[in-house]
Amino acid sequence: MPFDEKKTAEENEALYFEVIKKVKENLSIPISLKISHYSSSLSKLIKLLSWTGDVQSLVLFNRFYSPDINIKTNEVTVNNIFSSPDEYTLPLRWIALLSKSVECDLCASTGVHNADSVIKMLLAGASAVQMVSSFYVNGLDHIKKVNDDILLWMQANNYDTISDFKGKITKDTENHKLFVRSQFMKYYSSFE
Ligand SMILES: Cc1cc2nc3c(=O)[nH]c(=O)nc-3n(C[C@H](O)[C@H](O)[C@H](O)COP(=O)(O)O)c2cc1C
Repeated sequence: MPFDEKKTAEENEALYFEVIKKVKENLSIPISLKISHYSSSLSKLIKLLSWTGDVQSLVLFNRFYSPDINIKTNEVTVNNIFSSPDEYTLPLRWIALLSKSVECDLCASTGVHNADSVIKMLLAGASAVQMVSSFYVNGLDHIKKVNDDILLWMQANNYDTISDFKGKITKDTENHKLFVRSQFMKYYSSFE
């Protein structure tokens, strides 16, 4: 968490590069780095990390444990340990925006709970997804359900392999613009 007010944005971001360097010096296996979405220039940071050539993939994003307050007891409590299925749109946006311009794989993490969100991440250009909360909530049998549902969707859409549709949505530059621009104005102006 970049909460230290004495540190600049550059100092916070430099930490990632230091960690990569140290891990790289000590490991010969491929490195996957999971990052936070807290950055004042996230696109640039993600691209620079991918350009180091030292990470095989970047995982977008870590989901920080967020304390809550109990207003009856005024205590700080443990809450929201698990993500909800609608949290996937944050990594989806950034994967859609960057999958074509980074030089490493992107892996989606946070809010991926079912086949639909896995498929969306792949359409946006993710090479892999990570699922945590969903398996805590639904049990490990859920893996089969997700895989089966992905296959059903692929069959219904005549895709034989994941590479047949990986990044398909972001190939269209108009779609890319939709992930950049805030669409609230458009949404409200569509009401009669
Ligand atoms: C019970 C539990 C324990 C976790 N422990 C860690 C941890 O030790 N380190 C870490 O970086 N993330 C940890 N996470 C965060 C997950 O790796 C993941 O980033 C987060 O749950 C978002 O993914 P999800 O939406 O698939 O759950 C934990 C998550 C859960 C639910």
